[in-house]
Amino acid sequence: MPRILWFGHILPQIDDENSLLSLCDVAVPQAKLDAAVPLSIVPDSGSGFMGPAALEGHRAGVHFACAFQMEHLEQSASSIRFVLLDAVAELRMSVEFVLDSESSVLKIHSQLENTGSSEFSLHKLASATLPIADTFTECLTLNGRWGLEFQQHRSVISATQLRIKNMSGRTSHEYFPGCVVGQQHFNAEHGQLMGVHLGYSGNYELTVERLTTGEACLQVGLAILPGEINLAPGAVIDAPALFACAADGLNQMTQRFHQFARRHVLPQWTRTPRPIHANSWEALYFDHDEHALLALVDAAASAGAERFVLDDGWFHGRRDDTSGLGDWWVDKTVYPKGLHTLVAHIRNLGLEFGLWFEPEMVNPVSELYKNHPDWVLQVAGRNTPLARNQLVLNLGLVAVRDYLYKSIAALVDEYKIDYIKWDMNRDLVLPGSSGKAGVVEQVNGVYELLDRLQSAYPNLEIESCSSGGARADYGILARTGRVWTSDCIDPIDRLSIQRGFGLFFPPEIMGAHVGHDVAHLTGRATNLQTRAIVALQGQYGYELDARNITDEERQQLMFYAERYKQYRAWVAESSAWVVPTRDAALFVQGQVSLDRASSFWTIVASSSLETNLPERVRLLGLAEDKPYRVIATGWEALRSFGKHTPDWMVNEVVVSGAELMNIGLNLPVMPAQSALLLDCSQA
Ligand code: GLA
Repeated sequence: MPRILWFGHILPQIDDENSLLSLCDVAVPQAKLDAAVPLSIVPDSGSGFMGPAALEGHRAGVHFACAFQMEHLEQSASSIRFVLLDAVAELRMSVEFVLDSESSVLKIHSQLENTGSSEFSLHKLASATLPIADTFTECLTLNGRWGLEFQQHRSVISATQLRIKNMSGRTSHEYFPGCVVGQQHFNAEHGQLMGVHLGYSGNYELTVERLTTGEACLQVGLAILPGEINLAPGAVIDAPALFACAADGLNQMTQRFHQFARRHVLPQWTRTPRPIHANSWEALYFDHDEHALLALVDAAASAGAERFVLDDGWFHGRRDDTSGLGDWWVDKTVYPKGLHTLVAHIRNLGLEFGLWFEPEMVNPVSELYKNHPDWVLQVAGRNTPLARNQLVLNLGLVAVRDYLYKSIAALVDEYKIDYIKWDMNRDLVLPGSSGKAGVVEQVNGVYELLDRLQSAYPNLEIESCSSGGARADYGILARTGRVWTSDCIDPIDRLSIQRGFGLFFPPEIMGAHVGHDVAHLTGRATNLQTRAIVALQGQYGYELDARNITDEERQQLMFYAERYKQYRAWVAESSAWVVPTRDAALFVQGQVSLDRASSFWTIVASSSLETNLPERVRLLGLAEDKPYRVIATGWEALRSFGKHTPDWMVNEVVVSGAELMNIGLNLPVMPAQSALLLDCSQA
């Protein structure tokens, strides 16, 4: 069975004659099996492997353990595909490794085929099992909750198993499908590590485990509910693709994943300059009124918005969150003439038009549910717990997908919609389809519906939202090209949310809006400067009631909007750099253009800093031998907090990349929740 001996930087050419590759047998300890069974690419219990098997299942109670052998392999310059056969259990597994040499990201795709003549019940299917280097002792996972996604957690890789099992039926707020394993204390700049990400929007399982042999391994794949997958004779099932990358420091890993996502995952339209959004949600919630909306559009446009998104509340019977989901036609009581007046107004101002949908859901109080109570995921005889008063439609059913496609397409045609905010606001509980578990089919159904829309409307932009960032993964991002990162727009909480998100996803697809002065989710008050600077880390936009801002605030927003427009010309090809800081409350990060001629940096004190003065801040990724002009924005507002402001902020300076990257810049006194923006471009 094929094994992976090394996953890391490229080794010099190996001499086949004198190589460890031909000497990879291992010792056999007393009191264990008489022959060693090392970790293979498809570990199987039938061969005597005692760690996590890649596949579990049975055929009417028999063939509960598999033992594969190599059938054949196919190889090209950048890929290798192993086809493995278990002639007794009558199963064929194929595992393909494709290395993208530009980004160094490896894509692993596994497939299982039932070659027998009866059904095979599948309980578990790993996408990949990878060895973890012996020197790697730490694991970084992203965990969170609604309003605080992508929080970084560290665990020690020890004798016990580290296990994440996401059964929420979506990518989830709680468990990001991926992790980073690496040397102790690996950080943005230092430490050998390996990052993995499962490109999948449904149930999955990830384990990191030190085996009894001392070797550690990582396994990621589908999590299957009891009875969910019964492979018919001849049937094939694909495990979701796993993306893996070895790097030195998190910055290098991030840059590699960003480059890969840009070239091989994201829709083409994400490569065009990303417009400034204004979203109606926190300004109006369900309180839709045409006059109020027209005024909001005017106000947003005057603050620099380029696309207006009409959020939840526009469709039939949707006066609050108790009803309406499923009835995707414009509410006549609020919009007697449809959305035409509003859309024309938006376009007359030169803005694009976006509309919110939550296609996978239905409220029991809706026409759709009245007519098709059998269209929901459910289990007979049980009451499905509601979440936000809603149930989940069964997208495994063709009729449901057809209904949704037609409903959405009709509105796209009528209003020439530019953009859809595709929301998904609940976890799946009792996800029964004809009585059987149907999460895998559900996820495939969602993908299929999105694919159908994408091929009919290639220019239609779709955002993935799931109560904020509960559906961010390369599976959904092959079909959508923006993520509503979090419902929390508090810039201080956003710092860690956006930093975690940014590990795997590039900034140009990260929805980041300037919210209200008092954040609706946290009650925290912050100034406009901090809110705008934090929003500049992603796709800048507004989630505030622009009707109620002062002229000065409007000018400030316009100022940052102009900055965003300058940056976006090169950000979609830039490299992301997080600068490690001594004080954990100081967040420093930046984007550097491909040619290293332009860069911008956000420097934010999330809370009070520990010392009298902030530490000197280094910039990264610049050209050592080139002079850079550094221009600071925001220092005036901080002046009163200290007796002296460093001269370089007041009078712009020109210094070498080497000095900026090694010596760094003295910061002014930065009180809690203050922010600075630095422009640093070759002079
Ligand atoms: C979810 C989204 C929000 C908003 C509301 C509307 O919570 O994350 O941005 O669209 O739904 O109901």
